[in-house]
Amino acid sequence: MALPNPRPGEETSDGSPAEQNPPNLPIHPPSISLSATTMTTLRAFTTDDLFMFNGVNLDALTETYNMGFYMGYIARWPEMCLVAEAASGDVAGYVLGKAEGSGELWHGHVTALTVSPTFRRQRLAERLMNFLEEVTEIKEGYFVDLFVRVSNAVAISMYEKFGYSVYRRVLQYYAGEEDAFDMRKAMSRDVGKKSVIPLTRPVRPDEIEFN
Ligand SMILES: CC(C)(COP(=O)(O)OP(=O)(O)OC[C@H]1O[C@@H](n2cnc3c(N)ncnc32)[C@H](O)[C@@H]1OP(=O)(O)O)[C@@H](O)C(=O)NCCC(=O)NCCS
Repeated sequence: MALPNPRPGEETSDGSPAEQNPPNLPIHPPSISLSATTMTTLRAFTTDDLFMFNGVNLDALTETYNMGFYMGYIARWPEMCLVAEAASGDVAGYVLGKAEGSGELWHGHVTALTVSPTFRRQRLAERLMNFLEEVTEIKEGYFVDLFVRVSNAVAISMYEKFGYSVYRRVLQYYAGEEDAFDMRKAMSRDVGKKSVIPLTRPVRPDEIEFN
């Protein structure tokens, strides 16, 4: 009898890591996803956007990284890095994500989600998150997770509205100063929702499995 194909993130029978994307499931960012209300388009994040996103990143709650960091994401997880482009051509917002882990920790991760103040409250964050969750479902991830500053009440309540809950508190996660909430949402593969059962104690950054 043929052995079942290993799932993404699991090992093959000879011990080598499985393909992260099942080969028969190509995932492409949407080339066009036009909203009648916002007239914004969701499309793949490209290296050109790195010259265009200053207006979004000036926000104090938006983390900014070095160029190599973004390029690594665009190269490795293009299907999880999306820009919301306004009709004017401006970057209205973006999400940077990745897929990581193995076994029951195989999951989608939101590294950055931000929307320019001019374009807020038009459901752009919701559309970007929905897309990242759909990709995680296709990749058969058990959950999606993210870190958010404990003081970022707007984002925390938004994620709660989207179905996320606090899995654990990470002490001094942000530059050794502010704590983070590690929030998770179980995907359909996690039938028993084991991945979102909250930890009973806070953890230190060095106890986190992934960075
Ligand atoms: C948080 C952020 C991404 C929300 O983007 P957005 O496109 O305005 O969010 P949406 O329009 O999709 O809002 C979805 C829901 O979140 C909640 N929400 C979003 N912004 C809110 C605000 N300022 N006040 C209260 N609730 C808010 C609402 O419930 C909203 O649904 P509703 O408009 O039907 O009431 C945006 O404010 C932002 O970029 N903030 C700075 C960066 C940041 O904090 N990123 C997250 C870090 S992990």
